[in-house]
Amino acid sequence: MKVVATASIKGGVGKTATAVNLAAEATRSGIRVLLWDLDPQGSATYLLRAEHRLAGGGARDLVSGESELLGEVRATSVEGLHVLPSDTSLRYLDRHLDAAGKPRRRLGKLLAPLAPAYDLVVLDCPPGASLGIESALRATHLLLVPVVPTTLAMLTLSQLEELVAASRQGPQLLVHISMLDRRKALQRETATELATRPDVLDTVVPNTTAVERMGPERAPVRAFAPRSPATLAYEQLWAEVAERLW
Ligand SMILES: Nc1ncnc2c1ncn2[C@@H]1O[C@H](COP(=O)(O)OP(=O)(O)OP(=O)(O)O)[C@@H](O)[C@H]1O
Ligand SMILES: [Mg+2]
Repeated sequence: MKVVATASIKGGVGKTATAVNLAAEATRSGIRVLLWDLDPQGSATYLLRAEHRLAGGGARDLVSGESELLGEVRATSVEGLHVLPSDTSLRYLDRHLDAAGKPRRRLGKLLAPLAPAYDLVVLDCPPGASLGIESALRATHLLLVPVVPTTLAMLTLSQLEELVAASRQGPQLLVHISMLDRRKALQRETATELATRPDVLDTVVPNTTAVERMGPERAPVRAFAPRSPATLAYEQLWAEVAERLW
């Protein structure tokens, strides 16, 4: 079982859009995929039409091991894709991780029993650099960071790189350019500069209404816009990620 996380210190950069579409694209390879929505906002949960609620004692019981992860998993409208939904109690994830002891190892420990059931787990992380994020990164083989090509996004990217570098068992960090608006010269220049770095994938996800429409459609882009540039981009992104995972 491989684990991929979408994370960034910056909010609103396309982490959830990437997590949901990447997970959906991965199922097309015939593998069993679980998306774990670790963000109390519950955006991925919403997009996959799941209820924004954990049964039992919420995040506390999940983290302590009182309730089982597999018991919280729901099917989605995408064949082969399951979701472990968000819950407002995830706001206190750091506190629950701390209480459980060895917080940075905790999420990896919780994920281990899922190995017979899934080939791939995608963690959709909230923005920031919390203890929960550190724990998620420790459990992750490959960290995918969507970067909107702007100066401040580059600044927070280097902060996340420092965080990963500081962890002895950090994941491989890969960047993909996200929400590129080609009409903006500064974004084009920054994207060109980014593309020269070895950790930046070839795939560029353009700024497009198809991705915005995931909100009202509550589905991955392929479900309602199969020939859109966004679907093509996520297909390519999955190919690049899969090549590095296996
Ligand atoms: N490629 C894109 N083109 C146009 N809009 C996009 C694109 N990717 C994401 N968006 C829109 O930008 C907003 C933020 O996207 P998303 O929720 O994926 O970001 P996020 O990094 O997960 O945000 P958060 O930090 O709040 O979790 C959403 O309204 C989404 O529809
Ligand atoms: Mg998100």
